[in-house]
Amino acid sequence: RSLKMSNRPKVFISRSDYPEAGIKLLRDRCEIEVYNSLEKDVPTNELLNKLVGKDALFITSKNKINKEVVEAAGKNGVKVIATMSVGLDHIDLEAIKRTSIKIGYTPDVLTEATAELTVALLLATSRRIVEGHKTIVSGEWKMWTPTFMCGQGLYKSIVGFVGFGRIGQSIAKKLIPFGTSKILYSGPRRKHEGDQLGAEFIDFDSLLQQSDFVIVTCPLTSETEGIFTAEKFSLMKRSAIFINSARGAIVDQESLVHALKNKIIAAAGLDVMTPEPLPKDHPLVSLDNCVLTPHIGSATLETRDEMCILTAKNILAALDGEKMPAEYIL
Ligand code: DGY
Repeated sequence: RSLKMSNRPKVFISRSDYPEAGIKLLRDRCEIEVYNSLEKDVPTNELLNKLVGKDALFITSKNKINKEVVEAAGKNGVKVIATMSVGLDHIDLEAIKRTSIKIGYTPDVLTEATAELTVALLLATSRRIVEGHKTIVSGEWKMWTPTFMCGQGLYKSIVGFVGFGRIGQSIAKKLIPFGTSKILYSGPRRKHEGDQLGAEFIDFDSLLQQSDFVIVTCPLTSETEGIFTAEKFSLMKRSAIFINSARGAIVDQESLVHALKNKIIAAAGLDVMTPEPLPKDHPLVSLDNCVLTPHIGSATLETRDEMCILTAKNILAALDGEKMPAEYIL
């Protein structure tokens, strides 16, 4: 290996199936080491070995960057950890603050894809599309009847957002043309963008009481973990539809199962759950009033390419000491 080669920055890449569009940017400029198992995410003990001698780590939201990993990364001179996700709940940010490690993430590029998937999940759930499909596949569809497979319409409905950031706002813009009567949102503060959309800032409990659709789009943090308790589900309308495309741990899942089984709420559409992957014998799987998708919010080919490119660019900029295109500032 030439001296020049060995002077190239060293990057650990946590999977071998990241889109080539981004990885090639790194291959051109860095020495990369790719974790070569597609079957499992790199376990913490292996990550602790792999980060030794690296300048940068390229990870997903499934790679847990706990305090131990952060401290080891700090000691070993890792300059940047770039996650191909907008969520940062897998990274111990408090521990990061005590190091000089920069964090790169992928906001904006996934907003539209994730908002689209959330709308798809909402319609699939409210109009019972999966349940309807199953009745045809199983031969149970016998005839048209006045009440067969009736669901809830978006037209004239009240839609409440728990968290109203980029993704929530994009979903709202897509739902308003359906003729919704009101958009509500709760969160840490009233937002100018909310005012522009004619959305009403409201406290969490009132939002749950008033909404026909409750959509979770807030990040998972110590403040939002487990906020959907049994008590909160019981505040919701019996006809309410609950949609989560944020993180499973925002919800106390046992309480959600109880609420769905006992018709405390009408239905749920979930792109995120606990654990992921959800075992097929989990109670949520057998509920007719629950539609599940396997964490595919940002899963369009274009979006995943853009996320990968942005992650690579975050790494290259940090290594060059330049402004990162998407640094999470702590
Ligand atoms: C995100 O970007 O946070 C998605 O959930 C994928 O991890």
